[in-house]
Amino acid sequence: PRLTVITGSASGIGRALADQLRARGEEVVGVDLRDADVLADLATAEGRAAAVDAVRALGGGGVDALVTCAGVAEPSPLMVRINYFGTVEFVEALRPVLAASPSPRVAVIGSISGTMGNDERTRVACLAGDEEAGVARAAELTEAGRPHSIYPSTKAALAEWARRTAVAPGWADAGIALNVVAPGVVLTPMTTGLFEDPVMRELMDAAVPMPLNGYAPPEAVAAVLAFLVSEANTHVTGQVVYVDGGAEVTQRPADL
Ligand code: NAI
Repeated sequence: PRLTVITGSASGIGRALADQLRARGEEVVGVDLRDADVLADLATAEGRAAAVDAVRALGGGGVDALVTCAGVAEPSPLMVRINYFGTVEFVEALRPVLAASPSPRVAVIGSISGTMGNDERTRVACLAGDEEAGVARAAELTEAGRPHSIYPSTKAALAEWARRTAVAPGWADAGIALNVVAPGVVLTPMTTGLFEDPVMRELMDAAVPMPLNGYAPPEAVAAVLAFLVSEANTHVTGQVVYVDGGAEVTQRPADL
C-alpha cells in the first residue's frame, strides 16, 4: 500500500487526514510532539534530522507522499521555526526518498492569512533560508507590538517557496507534485479557544468571511489533501488551493 508521512498527525487537520488515508487502506507514518509514530520537535534542526532518520527507517520500502500539517497559531518567533523551517527543511530532506516513489506527492498547509498582508523582512528571511534572521525579525515584531504579522509572513513564505520549488530541478521533473492547501477558518483545537471569545469571533467573521458553508471541519481540508497526494493527481502542481468557503475570492479580484 501507499505510504504517506503526515506531520502534525496528532490533532486537527493532520489527524483527520491520517484517518481518511487509513480508511482507504493506505499506510500512514505520523510525526508529532506526542501521540505519533515518530515523536519529534520540528522546531529544531536536530528534531527535524531525527524525524527524517526515523521516517526513512519506518518507511522501509519508501515514502510515496508527505503532508506537513504541523504548525502553531500562538504569535511568537517560534512560528518561524515550526511553520516555515519545520516544513521546508523536512520536505527538502525527504525529497530524494520521495523521488524513488512511482507517484510521489507533497502537500504543505498554508493559510488564507498568507494573502492578508505580512511582514516583508520576515518573509524574505524565510525564503533566503536564514532561520536565525527570520526569528530575530519576528522577535523585533513581537517587541514592537506586531506579533500578529508573524503568522501570515510564515504562511506567505511557504506558498511562495512551494510555487518556486514545484518546478525547480528535482521536483516536477522527478514526478513530484508539490502543492499548498490554504484553509480559511477550520474548527480544530488550534482555533476553538479563539471562539470562546465573542470579540475574537466577530473579528474572525469579518476578516475571513466564508459564504460557502461557513467555518470548515478538518475533514473538509483533509479531503482536498487526500486528493492532492493521491496517485490520481497527475497534473496539479505549484498551486495554492484555497479551502476557505470563498473567503479568498471575497477579498481579491476575481479577474486574476
Ligand atoms: P492543531 O493544533 O489541531 O494541530 C497541529 C499539530 O501540530 C498538533 O498535533 C501539534 O502537536 C503539532 N505540532 C505543533 N508544533 C510542533 C512541532 N514543533 N513539532 C512537531 N509537531 C508540532 O492545528 P490544525 O488546525 O490542525 O492546524 C494544522 C495546520 O493548518 C497548521 O499549519 C495551521 O497553521 C494550519 N491552518 C489552520 C487553520 C485553522 O483555522 N485551524 C487555518 C489555516 C491554516
